[in-house]
Amino acid sequence: MAVAILLVATAVCSSAIAGGERTQRFAVELAVLAIRSHRLLGTGLAPAQRVRLRAKISSAIGVLPLLARGYFEEQRRANDRQLLGQLRRLQVLYAHGHLAALATDIDRLSQHYPMDTRGLLPLPATPLALNAGRALYKNLCMACHAYPDPRSPAPAPDLFTMARTLAPQQLVASLLGGVRGTPSTTLVDPLSNQNIADLAAYLKGGVAPKP
Ligand code: HEC
Repeated sequence: MAVAILLVATAVCSSAIAGGERTQRFAVELAVLAIRSHRLLGTGLAPAQRVRLRAKISSAIGVLPLLARGYFEEQRRANDRQLLGQLRRLQVLYAHGHLAALATDIDRLSQHYPMDTRGLLPLPATPLALNAGRALYKNLCMACHAYPDPRSPAPAPDLFTMARTLAPQQLVASLLGGVRGTPSTTLVDPLSNQNIADLAAYLKGGVAPKP
């Protein structure tokens, strides 16, 4: 019952702001930032990883007002002072090291501006999807992610390990955000929603290919 209510609520929320690419970009950035801000609160990060994570969080917080502008334009809404104020507050919290409050605020924002997960969730665990995901992984991701450069300050993470620590929605957000965010790809997401869903299903439920 609770699940049913949650599902209906989510469907209503996301249809309320469902929109184009820029609306989704803003929501994905918030969702990825939520994951990262919680990761930063946790223990067990190596110092170099922590530095790296901080850099990503700080640049995401910096870019959010710009992404919000894209969101306003696409939604044909006037600049929302309240939202801009909330984004400014993230910068202040981060600058003062109030990381727990930061994570709470980001969670709240991310719930308020949810990603449009139509065509992405629930993850399709069919043989067809797993095969498609596997092919995408082998062709597009494996070269870097299965053989991370040990000398790199930011080695490519193992995507299977990552997938299994994340909820499906978080995984999809990471793929949308991560793939788009790598310098090796363009700013436009090269993968369709179908591709992302297949990849996510494979990373969560499939077996890593043998080298
Ligand atoms: C040219 C090498 C390269 C290719 C190809 C590549 N990646 Fe990456 N990817 C990286 C590196 C390096 C990082 C770590 C970057 C960092 O930490 O700043 C990364 C980070 C990521 C992240 C972010 C992880 C996090 O901690 O937030 C995701 C998700 C991701 N990649 C998914 C993919 C997927 C899916 C593909 C294939 C469709 C792919 N990448 C292809 C090199 C690559």
